[in-house]
Amino acid sequence: MENFSFHNPTRLHFGRGQIAKLAQELPATARVLLLAGGGSIRQNGVYDQVMAALGKRTVVEFFGVEANPDFDTLMRAVELCRREKIDWILPVGGGSVLDGSKFVAAAVRYAGDPWQILEQRLSALPHSLPIGAVLTLPATGSEANGAAVISRRATKEKLAFISPDVYPKFSILDPETTYSLPARQIANGIGDAFAHVVEQYLTYPADAAVQDRFAEGVMQTLIEVGPKTLAQPTDYAARSNLVWAATCALNGWIGVGVPQDWSTHMIGHELTALHDIDHARTLAIVLPSLLHVQRGTKGDKLLQYGARVWGITEGNREARIDAAIARTRAFYESIGIKTRLSDYGVSVDTAAEVARRLAARGMVKLGERGEITPATVEQILRLAA
Ligand code: NZQ
Ligand code: ZN
Repeated sequence: MENFSFHNPTRLHFGRGQIAKLAQELPATARVLLLAGGGSIRQNGVYDQVMAALGKRTVVEFFGVEANPDFDTLMRAVELCRREKIDWILPVGGGSVLDGSKFVAAAVRYAGDPWQILEQRLSALPHSLPIGAVLTLPATGSEANGAAVISRRATKEKLAFISPDVYPKFSILDPETTYSLPARQIANGIGDAFAHVVEQYLTYPADAAVQDRFAEGVMQTLIEVGPKTLAQPTDYAARSNLVWAATCALNGWIGVGVPQDWSTHMIGHELTALHDIDHARTLAIVLPSLLHVQRGTKGDKLLQYGARVWGITEGNREARIDAAIARTRAFYESIGIKTRLSDYGVSVDTAAEVARRLAARGMVKLGERGEITPATVEQILRLAA
């Protein structure tokens, strides 16, 4: 295991009725920006719970943050914060709203052009406003990490920044608020969280026994409760475990001291920017082919994954690796997520374009060993046709 320092400052309130905790978490004098998406929170009662808990606090609302939150939309929220002298940001929604809030929090007092935060991947953003989040979609882990991914439709870009300064001070996770999710979003959440574990686990052995077992446990939980939740959306036992699994997949714990490989995400972000495919679906397209192309580097871990997560113990090394990759693809398909570019009407020509775009961003050595070059990216996407 490599040396590490680990600090996750987000306080979590988990369970039924926890939105009421807003009353004790936010200062009575706070001037709050309530940031939300297209309106799901008005339909499922979450908005009413939030407003009741906020009591007499000054609340300014900004609705309309879209899935894959857009820079131009968020800049309007930034202007609103400046005008209204907002001092707390309260995102209520899914990962897009939470990510959007991190950008807004960082941009309000940023002196230059806020796009620099993304373009230069700034991590020191000490003037960020504090964030308290209410999560309604288990998927991204944004409720307990310092990452945000922002799209800019005007230029077809999708870029990330990570900063300790934008971790939510607290996050509220009430599994019942997720009952209203459509099946497509539940599946996206399961698939995204699964990929988050894979990107921190399926690299090479690093003598990190706890991280490995924890990662395998999160994957097994997703495999078990994911389909259950799709079949029985109001099964609290399954749903609450799904919510917690998604948080544990990307709150930092499983990734400490181990090599990581975020290339599936980096390639996936380009597919969303170019073709407007849901985030989790881009991962399902890339991941099986990437594992196949990287089977040499990842071989030992693929065997461990196959044995411990899928019970694959028969056959020679290559056959077991093939089986582990096939089970991964089948898992995505089983929750209703297609795994081929052609399933989304995207031509294989995109392979060269994605490789070119990543190269232009300097992402020419992706993967845990820096072995994934633009040529490899193209090979992976050709295989995903
Ligand atoms: O906008 P509203 O009306 O709220 O509807 C949303 C949206 O249409 C809906 N929804 C959310 N909660 C609901 C609900 N509908 C009914 N009931 C509820 N309880 O779901 C739709 C999708 O929401 P979105 O927030 O876009 O989904 P998700 O949480 O999957 O977030 C995806 C975004 O997160 C980024 C992705 O790139 C993408 O932009 N990611 C963020 C990460 C991070 N911060 O660490 C890591 C991830 O890898 C990912 O890249
Ligand atoms: Zn993701």
